[in-house]
Amino acid sequence: MAGPAAEGTMRGGATTPLFRPGRLGGEEAGPLYLRLQALIRAGIAEGRLRTNDALPAERELAAQLGVSRVTVRKALRGLVDEGVLRQRHGSGTYVGRPAERIRQPLSRLTSFTEDMTASGHVPGTRWLDRSSGPATAEEAELLGIAPGAAVTRLTRLRLVDGDPVAIERAIVPATAIPDPAKVGTSLYDALASAGMQPVRAVQRLAAVSLGESEARLLEAAPGSAAVAIERIAYLPGGSVVECTRSHYRGDACDFVAELSLSPNGAGTDAGPASPTHQTSQG
Ligand code: GLP
Repeated sequence: MAGPAAEGTMRGGATTPLFRPGRLGGEEAGPLYLRLQALIRAGIAEGRLRTNDALPAERELAAQLGVSRVTVRKALRGLVDEGVLRQRHGSGTYVGRPAERIRQPLSRLTSFTEDMTASGHVPGTRWLDRSSGPATAEEAELLGIAPGAAVTRLTRLRLVDGDPVAIERAIVPATAIPDPAKVGTSLYDALASAGMQPVRAVQRLAAVSLGESEARLLEAAPGSAAVAIERIAYLPGGSVVECTRSHYRGDACDFVAELSLSPNGAGTDAGPASPTHQTSQG
């Protein structure tokens, strides 16, 4: 992608370059990398750089501004960490999405597809793994099935309006989804079609930071903030139909729960008795 922003020119026909030495201001304006960050922020605020615009390559930016590549890299890295810019591995640096965050309800058992569609976004899925095989000891414990019983594994990059926001690793008993290829965009649609819709789930959230490979998939900086979610979902009879572990970009989602005072004034806890992360329930 090499639009007008890549050339550093103004949109709308004007030709004043955005990236040229004079635009960084004098020394009194602070360190060079901070001045470059300010220039990029101003370009976004003025509409000269828009979401998904590509920035010139580091080398070109350094030449256009008359600064070192180290300065350019430091400035871009800081803005990537803040989510102002995004880096796609091997393809360059882009203006990130505006700060609008997607909302995920915590008090209803809904699917990613439902949540995103309900809030006017377009959900998407990029498959990372769709396979089946015998359950490991850990998978068997999580799903409450015999070790070696068949499970279906579904690992997906979840997209919102084309942008990656989460990695989801689901395991499902093969009795619910025998053929992983039958799952389209929505796992919950596939479960409903099989008459295996979950009716209850226990979900845990924890703050984590992204490792290298997850960060690359989510187009985020390694070490940036994320929310790890584990959902264990149950059929009406109490058997586990899904265990999904997800990593959501920390800057992408607001998790919203409605709280109310219970009639007798005491709090309730819908979670299981055990506080451990690995608890399985049947
Ligand atoms: C959410 C949950 C997952 C669940 C998924 C189903 O993201 N955290 O546990 O598997 O929704 O969404 P979909 O039906 O879109 O695949």
